Amino acid sequence: MTILRIEAVTFGVLDLDACTRFFADAGLEPVESGASGATFRTPEHQTVHLRLADDPALPPAVEPSPTLREIVWGVDTADAVASIATELQKDRAVRTDRGGTVRARDNTGFGIGFTVAAPVAADAGTPRRYNVLRNVNRWNEPVTAYRRPRPIRLLHVTLDIPKQGREEAIDFYISRLRFRPIDCVKDTGTFMQCEGDVEHHNLFLCFRPDKAGINHIALEVRDFDEVMEGGNYMVEQRWQESRVAGRHTLGSNIYRFFHSPAGGRIELAADMDRMDKSFETRVWEKNPGHHVWSLKSSGGSSG
Ligand SMILES: [Fe+2]
Repeated sequence: MTILRIEAVTFGVLDLDACTRFFADAGLEPVESGASGATFRTPEHQTVHLRLADDPALPPAVEPSPTLREIVWGVDTADAVASIATELQKDRAVRTDRGGTVRARDNTGFGIGFTVAAPVAADAGTPRRYNVLRNVNRWNEPVTAYRRPRPIRLLHVTLDIPKQGREEAIDFYISRLRFRPIDCVKDTGTFMQCEGDVEHHNLFLCFRPDKAGINHIALEVRDFDEVMEGGNYMVEQRWQESRVAGRHTLGSNIYRFFHSPAGGRIELAADMDRMDKSFETRVWEKNPGHHVWSLKSSGGSSG
């Protein structure tokens, strides 16, 4: 069995209109919307489902609503989905819905699902070219603005988990679902890569806040400019930034974070590390720090 990527996330929300506006402003494509929910997707065809928090079809919430109710992981084959079901049945309730998606709960109580991945290879366009001294990559071509975010894909999910039982909660993903720890930070949590991907992390389980809940989902945009300009667009739409821009130490991703009306936050992220199989897990006794840099300002004009 090989888990390839995040296929879908589902939020149980209270203010469906605000959440629908939020994810549209964040640049995801609306697929459907109605009285009981809305669905968005990335160009790589991963989906974000918004459902009313009291929808009985949703897995129970691990914290007061609004919050994340389920992550569905995309798997390489139907046989692999079946073998995950067999594995999980050893110690927890598992059901398979009519569409073939296997559903269970992780140790913290988050809904988890497994389905055959249906990826679309999106075209991210030509990467921006940069000029440095005599290293000229962009002739006669001014830089134009992105103006708003257009995420390419759902990059990772960060979940808060309680300190009690943290080792088992993390080990569930590693031993049972074959995630690979990339960075184990003994006072914070573990960054994990799913077996079929190369991202620094697809999943980060963070026990530092000592609570269960959604921390954030990360949406990958193209580059530094799109993080900054996309973040500016979110500010203009009156969404609240939760953390000033910076570049993470672990993962190296450039980021801006915004509070989400669907629970937790979203991260606009770019240029995250990719780790192939030759990379060896790093173990940190203490957190090496959140950022390589973060934005500082002494005031001044934007004019
Ligand atoms: Fe993140």
